[in-house]
Amino acid sequence: MGLKILGTGSSLPKLSVTNDMLSGLMDTNDEWISTRTGIKSRYICSDEKLLDLAADAAKKAIDMARIDKDEIDTIICTTVCSDYLTPSMACMINKELGISCRSLDINAACSGFIYGLELAKAYIDSGIAKKILLVSAENMTRLSDWSDRSTCVLFGDGAGATVLSEGDDLMAVSVTARGNEELLNISGIHGNSPFDKTEAGENFLHMNGKEVYKFAVSSICEELEKTVKEAGIEFKDVDYILLHQANMRIIGAAQKRLPVAKEKYLSNIDRCGNTSSASIPILLDEEARKGRFKKGDVLLMSAFGGGLTTGTCAIKWGI
Ligand code: COA
Repeated sequence: MGLKILGTGSSLPKLSVTNDMLSGLMDTNDEWISTRTGIKSRYICSDEKLLDLAADAAKKAIDMARIDKDEIDTIICTTVCSDYLTPSMACMINKELGISCRSLDINAACSGFIYGLELAKAYIDSGIAKKILLVSAENMTRLSDWSDRSTCVLFGDGAGATVLSEGDDLMAVSVTARGNEELLNISGIHGNSPFDKTEAGENFLHMNGKEVYKFAVSSICEELEKTVKEAGIEFKDVDYILLHQANMRIIGAAQKRLPVAKEKYLSNIDRCGNTSSASIPILLDEEARKGRFKKGDVLLMSAFGGGLTTGTCAIKWGI
């Protein structure tokens, strides 16, 4: 068994914030951000809640899949910044869509979408689920430290969704993690227990950019080589590569190491910045709606992020 993608959707906040707009708020400039990251602007939630984006992306994916929403028996949402700690974002999407089904969030940081695909495959292979809505929704700008110019300029908000069902299109998928909180972390809620003697962390994202950069380049290349083998194909058989949109220089470093033509790498980082686990499904949906993919095209995807997690897959486009 396995799975196939029936439909995709995405949703971005209406406010687009350019590098020049940021340079009016902090000591930065378009030249620094563009040359170091490839980011020119990012979409940032202003009066939108994350649920608005998640539900909008979900509805678009259901429309493209041409299914009745009541056929969905499982909602998986990947997020590091749900509107509530509980209920989960998946439960809120379920409420917004007006359906009742198994609903759960997973947090694998920026690799969440690939973790979600693997989990969906396991649900479908075991016969537990038949139609799964996988939504990746992130509000990273709410978790960014806006007094730290080296991190806050990197992130944007958005949601991407896919509807999945039984099929043979997922050729290979693998995820892993090597636990490490030093390179990238966001502290959890500390609360006000009178008994708690531990120190509260700041609820902002902290990152060692240089070390994450090295981890990203080596993990993308190693994991993609493994995935291509596992899928029983060669790099020449690949039609498109969708990497986690964290930094254009990371994508450029992977391009130098892997034997795949540059034109096959898709990207929207210039417009969206890093939207964590939503980055690959947003890119997938944007390109699908442009008519980029034809049936049978082989897509490689690879993500890395906090955890430190990685996730990689090869999937045939089947719509
Ligand atoms: N504008 C202008 N200058 C800035 C700046 C900004 N927004 N942010 C940092 N700087 C300055 C620094 O203060 C430093 O100045 P100094 O040399 O006077 O101390 C200088 O730029 C270089 O900073 P550095 O941190 O060495 O830059 P870098 O070349 O390593 O690039 C990143 C920083 C974050 C772009 C890069 O490390 C990176 O992309 N890492 C990967 C991060 C990532 O993808 N994370 C997502 C994980 S899912």
